[in-house]
Amino acid sequence: MKPKILVTREVFDETLAFLAQHCEVESNQQDVAFDPDALARRLGGKDGLMCALTDRVDSKLLAGAPNLKVVANIAVGYNNIDLAACTARGIMATNTPGVLDDSTADLAWALMLGTARRLTELERRVRAGEWTGWRLKQWLGVDVHHATLGIFGMGRIGQAIAKRAAGFDMTVIYHNRNRVDSRVESRLAAAYVSKEELLRRSDFLVLQMPYSPETHHLIGAAELKRMKPTAILINSTRGGVVDDAALIEALRNGVIRAAGLDVFENEPKLDPGFMALDNVVLLPHIGSSTEATRRAMAMTAAKNAVAALTGGTPPNLLNPR
Ligand code: DGY
Repeated sequence: MKPKILVTREVFDETLAFLAQHCEVESNQQDVAFDPDALARRLGGKDGLMCALTDRVDSKLLAGAPNLKVVANIAVGYNNIDLAACTARGIMATNTPGVLDDSTADLAWALMLGTARRLTELERRVRAGEWTGWRLKQWLGVDVHHATLGIFGMGRIGQAIAKRAAGFDMTVIYHNRNRVDSRVESRLAAAYVSKEELLRRSDFLVLQMPYSPETHHLIGAAELKRMKPTAILINSTRGGVVDDAALIEALRNGVIRAAGLDVFENEPKLDPGFMALDNVVLLPHIGSSTEATRRAMAMTAAKNAVAALTGGTPPNLLNPR
């Protein structure tokens, strides 16, 4: 008898084909997110769960799935999973680190360039017929090159963002829970600074820390006030690390210049305050969303799940015993 796995969101054909070699697969190819009751009902007799950040995996859900051995998230972030509850039940939890670093770093850069040069605002103006001709002082942006890039969270993605800064002759500073290896610092020409100094000096402040109770509203009204009035804030990590209401106030009142956002509190329901602002670029959580990367993420999650269900150790195990 093959182990039974539930796949909660639409995945690629090759992901399903790989899973089917090892498991009996129930997949949600219609891609309508399950509500908590539907998820619990479907998970009941399963041995494995392959899920996404739209699925909340908490102790109540796990309690109703006594056979469950693995929760394989199709994401590097795993704040949707109660890791302690998985561990307490002897359930392996996995994520998809590595395969999305470069695509996510590229998107952070797209947000930096897009906010600095006002790309989405000006495209809207062109489409609306507001462009009547060239003028010297027209719709001026700010330079990315030679500016100071501040990275808050210097893990793999933060490092990939820093690496790209060399081509723009930027000064790179960072803050992290733990200082990174000095060889990494010198390879990236990145200087470790306090949170205070990072807020004060950054022209572009890019957030790249995971979301957790400790990082909830890490950037709120007080932090925004400590930034330069010309600074640009980029968040492509998780909604909730920024206090959206405080950010809207700051953008409205010129406390900072602009923001580039791929993630939001309560997404996909954005605070309507964002909509009236021209100095914010709003994207629908697409940091890792390239064809190649999403295929790689789905296959990484599938391999994690299959390893766990066939007696092995998943390559990306989050809670080793
Ligand atoms: C991740 O991997 O955490 C991304 O946010 C998913 O797109």
